[in-house]
Amino acid sequence: MKQTILELLDSRVRAALQAAGCPDAPAIVAPAGRPEFGDYQANGVMAAAKSRKMNPRQLAEQVVTALDLKDMASKVEIAGPGFINITLSPEYLASLMTAALGDVNLGVPQPPAQRVVIDYSSPNLAKEMHVGHLRSTIIGDALARVLRFLGHTVIAQNHVGDWGTQFGMLTAYLIEAEQQEGEMVLSDLEDFYRRAKQRFDEDAAFADRAREYVVKLQGGDAQVKALWQKFLDISLHHCAALYARLGVALTREDVRGESAYNDDLPVVVADLQAKGLAVESQGAQVVFLDEFRNKEGEAQAYIVRKQDGGYLYSTSDLAAVRYRVGTLKADRVLYVVDARQALHFQQLFTLSRKAGYATGMTQLEHVGFGVMLGEDGKPFKTRSGTTVKLVDLLQEAEERAFTLVSEKNTEMPEADRRTISHAVGIGAVKYADLSKNRNSDYVFNWNSMLSFEGNTAPYLQYAYTRIQSVFRKADVSNEQADILLTESAERQLALELARFADAVHAVGREAAPHFLCAYLYDLATHFMRFYEACPVLKSEGAVRDSRLRLCRLTADTLKTGLGLLGIETLDVM
Ligand code: ARG
Repeated sequence: MKQTILELLDSRVRAALQAAGCPDAPAIVAPAGRPEFGDYQANGVMAAAKSRKMNPRQLAEQVVTALDLKDMASKVEIAGPGFINITLSPEYLASLMTAALGDVNLGVPQPPAQRVVIDYSSPNLAKEMHVGHLRSTIIGDALARVLRFLGHTVIAQNHVGDWGTQFGMLTAYLIEAEQQEGEMVLSDLEDFYRRAKQRFDEDAAFADRAREYVVKLQGGDAQVKALWQKFLDISLHHCAALYARLGVALTREDVRGESAYNDDLPVVVADLQAKGLAVESQGAQVVFLDEFRNKEGEAQAYIVRKQDGGYLYSTSDLAAVRYRVGTLKADRVLYVVDARQALHFQQLFTLSRKAGYATGMTQLEHVGFGVMLGEDGKPFKTRSGTTVKLVDLLQEAEERAFTLVSEKNTEMPEADRRTISHAVGIGAVKYADLSKNRNSDYVFNWNSMLSFEGNTAPYLQYAYTRIQSVFRKADVSNEQADILLTESAERQLALELARFADAVHAVGREAAPHFLCAYLYDLATHFMRFYEACPVLKSEGAVRDSRLRLCRLTADTLKTGLGLLGIETLDVM
């Protein structure tokens, strides 16, 4: 099987460690931190020497003697207490460039294929989607794209909140409001929810009816169910419009909400009881998990059925694990959900394994993320303190981008400026989110995300269009030309291009898109350096051909990389 550079170096160094008498020692290969350390550095020797009480320099020498990198490296050196510094040969780098240029996947090798379920977006349908669901939608979409690109089978699951007591209130209000106002009452869901809640709080008769509707809904009453379905359809329609605007490929087929697991909930609880996991506690059905203890040292309770017989978020999630592993045959399940739900998922995963819903072979991962903050460092809100609607946010992004694009292109027809500002505005919002380590909170700032300098979408999109303009001026280019890496800037660019595969693999492995963002930013920076140091159009013959091919691969890599993040590129902007 084809391997990435890091995988290749890792297996070669491990083989050499083995030959030097350290069979299980890890190689610990990483990109070298500084040019004088070569391109890659293997750091495993020190730990291996320590555990075998050997002199690390001596072991390093044995490892280097056994290390076979003839086909890859031009220099292998021992440094410091036993680091192994590896410099790739220009021939090897050139061969990687040629291979990438001739491959739709840009030379990125595919790991063993898995079936990966990704639970993302998953808004609550009672209300309109807001910024809190933006992160899940954007991160989940990028992960879906990356994992598909790596050859995995990705099954999206939009685990929408479409069940629970608030739907009694909403359906009761739907009849009432439609009778008074006609069909259009649901154009603004947020407003609809507010009015329904107000009726519920102020009118006891209405509140009683709402409760009665919940019972009817749960009992499968056809009339209430039809109303509920109507409400969901409209709410999902709102979601679909946002997905389309964001360029997120979630469809109705991907929706499998909490209600889909209704019939399974009593089955799950009975099963947990039969397995001795769920026990009665104050009328509720509870699982006490020894793995999670409170401050007093008592096992924490995970409630699976309430005192009144109702089921919970946790119960539907247990049923969903069974479905995803048992029916969808997932090897890996990613839950792209707010980090504040971390404990819920730890408990869910632990219990799922205990109950046998997932075996040790199935990877269950909570892909958590922090909160989007306003510039005041508090959770992102409108000026009046209400939650920001997603439509309004995206509208503002495109408007701001339109102003910027119009300043740069005074002559361009408006329709073209609109197309560009859509790509730039949406791209900026997505990239600002994806480029941060998802675990941390981040400050949402229009000016920095829309800047044409720094680690932003507009900067990368602009770098791409600059290369496109080189091709427009180049007239002819030889698509078969040899890659020549004589200048240092050429070599550095090639090395950076060669690292694409490892960046994409890291995103797939760690479910962390920011690795790809950091990579693309480095790539664009190396390209700019190359472009300043090495004339392309003004050079001649084989040098010009080779440089044009490096330009080509850079453009392809930027386009593919941004595409994996769900961000568009444009030929002009
Ligand atoms: N609807 C939930 C919320 O908005 C998120 C659901 C995430 N997925 C899951 N399987 N629990 O908080």
